[in-house]
Amino acid sequence: MRKKIVAGNWKLNNNQQETTALISALKAKGSFTGVEVKVAPTSIHLAQAVAELNDSAIEVIGQNMHQATHGAFTGEISVGMLQSIGVNSVILGHSERRAYFNETDEALAQKVSTAVDHDMEVVFCFGEELEDRKADNHFAVVEGQLRKALFGLNPTDWKYIVLAYEPVWAIGTGETASPEQAQEMHAFIRNLVAEAFGAAIAENVAILYGGSVKPANAQEIFSKPDVDGGLIGGAALNADDFFAIVHSI
Ligand code: PGA
Repeated sequence: MRKKIVAGNWKLNNNQQETTALISALKAKGSFTGVEVKVAPTSIHLAQAVAELNDSAIEVIGQNMHQATHGAFTGEISVGMLQSIGVNSVILGHSERRAYFNETDEALAQKVSTAVDHDMEVVFCFGEELEDRKADNHFAVVEGQLRKALFGLNPTDWKYIVLAYEPVWAIGTGETASPEQAQEMHAFIRNLVAEAFGAAIAENVAILYGGSVKPANAQEIFSKPDVDGGLIGGAALNADDFFAIVHSI
C-alpha cells in the first residue's frame, strides 16, 4: 500500500522561540499511526527542530535547497548541508519559489536530480494558476511541469519522489479545489507517471494535495482514492489544526 503523508510547510513564519513552542505543542498531541508526518521550518531552525523532534515520529524537512552541492552561491543551502544536520527530505518547486524567486522548470529539474543523486526525498510541488484553469489548460500545464522536472529521472529515482499537486489559486486563499477536482487531477497525474515509468511506480508514488487544507475539509479531500495526503500551509502553524488534519487521514 502507498504511504500516506501529511506535511506542514511553515514558510516564513515562527522565530526561534515560536518554533520551539509549536514543536512542543505538536509533541503534546501524542502519537499517530498509518501516516508519515513531516514539518518544514525555515532553514535556520532546521537543526533545532531536528534536535527537539528527536524523540518523536515527526520528521523535519527542508523548504528548499540549491542544485549545486557547493560553491559561490551566497545565501543558498546545499543537499549536504541539510543531510549533515539530519534532514533527508526537501520541498522543491513550491509555487512561491517559482513565482517570487524565479525558479524555472530547468532549475527544478537540476535540483531534483541533485537531491535524488544524494538519496534525498523530494516533495515536488506543481500546479496551475487560476487563468490556466479558467482556460481549461490545467492538465496541460501540470503535465508540462512534471515532464520538465521529473520525467528525465531514472525509474529507480522515483522511490525518492513525493508529488504535491497545489493549484496556485487555492494556496493561502481559502479557496480549495473540490475533492472531485483534486481526484480528477491526481488520477491524471498517476496515469502520466504510469505511461512514462510503468504501473508499479505510479501505484507507489504518493500524491499529496495542497491548497487551503483545513480540519473542516481535510477528511473529504483525503477520502479520494488518488489523494494520499496533504501539504499544509496556514493550518500547519497551529498544532490543534495540524493534528486534526493528520488524524483525518
Ligand atoms: P495553504 O498553503 O495551506 O496556506 O493554502 C499550502 C502550501 O503552500 O503548501
